[in-house]
Amino acid sequence: MLIDSISKMRQLLSNISNIGFVPTMGALHDGHLSLIETARKHHDIVVVSIFVNPSQFSPGEDYDVYPRNIDEDYTLATSVGADYVFSPSVFEIYGTGSLTNVIVDDTLTNKLCGAARPTHFKGVTTVVALLINIIKPQKVYLGEKDAQQVILLKRMVKDLHMDLEVATCPIVRDFDGLALSSRNTYLNDEERHEAIYLYQSLLVVKKQYDIGERNVEALKKSLAEVLKNATLAKIDYIEILGYDDLQSIETIEKKALVAIAVFFGKTRLIDNIVLEGGF
Ligand code: PAF
Repeated sequence: MLIDSISKMRQLLSNISNIGFVPTMGALHDGHLSLIETARKHHDIVVVSIFVNPSQFSPGEDYDVYPRNIDEDYTLATSVGADYVFSPSVFEIYGTGSLTNVIVDDTLTNKLCGAARPTHFKGVTTVVALLINIIKPQKVYLGEKDAQQVILLKRMVKDLHMDLEVATCPIVRDFDGLALSSRNTYLNDEERHEAIYLYQSLLVVKKQYDIGERNVEALKKSLAEVLKNATLAKIDYIEILGYDDLQSIETIEKKALVAIAVFFGKTRLIDNIVLEGGF
């Protein structure tokens, strides 16, 4: 069922105690579908939200052109087990303007994607907190491609003692390794071809790590070498940070996040792998 009103959504969910929630901005691909399928296995009711959240886009970003196709998304979401697709208007969510935000500290938000998009995560944490407050799920399902988003939403849930769990699902990749993203559709043929080097560069790091390399600078250097093959790409960041706290490290001794972001024209693509640490 497609729902656009908060009161209707609340009414439908009022007596349900086992809800799985998949927040999305629509333009659903197999990555989103894997989250919905996983939620389906564990909950009486699965709610998928489709809300292109204006507050997580900065001026000049792709809010106006972000792909929107509610009919197609509704069909896809329900075909893999969503019971309700919650697709409110911007007015329904924010009215004439909200004065309240949920902000996770700079130590987690001012690096990686937050460095180039300083207001992005404030929009993400605020809207997810707001949606959780409407849906009251037992579990929220997030994709691991947005690693920083996962880390800070987990932190938000912990710090605010929200009574729910955050579950994550692995990155779903295209046939050649490119991580699925709603923004991949912006790429032209040449850019799409070169985009394979994102995952290739991460694989090289993984390979070196597997044979014992633990020095962060050396690993970043090898990664950058592979990314040079993407001649149309402008690197936004190449980072290897401690997982959870996102602090800089020199040597990989415990779980670490290898994360990259590149621009093809105005299209920004991200990808990551997690290294478990230890020798
Ligand atoms: O990952 C996304 O699609 C969005 O950031 C989210 C979590 C749905 C919040 O708008």
